[in-house]
Amino acid sequence: MSEEVKYGLAGVLADDTAVSKVVPETNSLTYRGYAVQDLAVNARFEEVAYLIWNKELPTQAELDAFKQREKAARGASADTLKVVSMLSNHAHPMDSIRTAVSFMGQADETANDSSPEALYEKSIKMFAQIPELVAADHRRREGLPVIAPDASLDWSEIIFHMFFGEVPAPEVVKCFDISMTLYAEHSFNASTFTSRTIASSLSDIYSAITGGIGSLKGPLHGGANEAVMHMLKEGASPDGARDWMLDALATKKKIMGFGHRVYRSGDSRVPTMTDAYQKMVEVMDTDEARKYWEISRTLDETMVAEKGIYPNLDFPAGPAYYLMGFPIPMFTPLFVCSRITGWTAHVMEQLGNNKLIRPLSAYVGEAQREVTPIAER
Ligand code: COA
Repeated sequence: MSEEVKYGLAGVLADDTAVSKVVPETNSLTYRGYAVQDLAVNARFEEVAYLIWNKELPTQAELDAFKQREKAARGASADTLKVVSMLSNHAHPMDSIRTAVSFMGQADETANDSSPEALYEKSIKMFAQIPELVAADHRRREGLPVIAPDASLDWSEIIFHMFFGEVPAPEVVKCFDISMTLYAEHSFNASTFTSRTIASSLSDIYSAITGGIGSLKGPLHGGANEAVMHMLKEGASPDGARDWMLDALATKKKIMGFGHRVYRSGDSRVPTMTDAYQKMVEVMDTDEARKYWEISRTLDETMVAEKGIYPNLDFPAGPAYYLMGFPIPMFTPLFVCSRITGWTAHVMEQLGNNKLIRPLSAYVGEAQREVTPIAER
């Protein structure tokens, strides 16, 4: 171990950004200067996407034009849908969406056009089509026909429609829409930094996003929302949840959905998501919804009391998606549907003032030596 190395790049300032700001001391997160909590409650996700890309919230006329543009960009090509239909059932849905985005890139003749307008157009195209591809992957796994995007529905509604053929109660859609806002952007996290690194070599935006999806898949990053739900299912009952947690801590298990590299005393996004999850549970009014809510509360209280480690956004988002009806392996692809906004904004920012990302390494291997011919080894 070298003292000069910042392992995991922890604490390293790697570049400037004007997209979002994380202030660990106050647990706050802002997108283009607006607190995420404020955006999540007071703006629809389309407005937040517009803000992330255009630096200002839209007027009504700008929002209408933006929604028109997003709707016009929907409709994945028949070839992309065919590729999704051919993928193996044992592949994780994150592998499917990673492959589908890569395929979109090779099919786009203008993939290497990185002018600001071309980058924006491709970003809207991915924003409009990724939900359809994720839903198509879900439907084919279930042996169900794919549902084409319905132009009369807005972005959050249409995801439910393409997955399940119907749109749930407004409180459920609002909870989902809030989760999309909270997941949209988070400065130089692993997947965003991956996307920026790829863009910095002047590769194309689809390659940058394909790499970002690969990074997000890992359980220490986006994959944690799925792991949280498996854990809640293991916790089994509200009465057994505390013992489950004490047991897991005694055996030094990593508890998914807790802890954060940047926030040490609570993730700013959690209270808003937890409120939305609670409201949804009340509206659903089922034993199952109440059960998971109670297990979540007990695990949260036990972890904070025993270890002083707080939940991150994946902790309330996992069970919320489960109760909405999404299969657990689809949780991280839903995160992709949202984070595509942040990733692409960072690619645009990187290319606006590009410097190849190329850090140094501290060599700890053998000292230089000579090759002995194979007969003498
Ligand atoms: N469960 C149990 N212990 C945890 C923990 C968790 N989820 N998160 C952190 N800790 C403990 C570590 O064991 C370590 O204890 P030690 O000093 O006694 O060894 C200490 O807290 C510091 O953790 P560390 O893993 O070094 O912090 P990090 O900044 O490298 O990791 C995460 C941050 C997010 C990778 C880590 O908290 C984690 O793995 N969480 C679970 C996965 C998750 O929810 N990811 C989503 C992130 S948004």
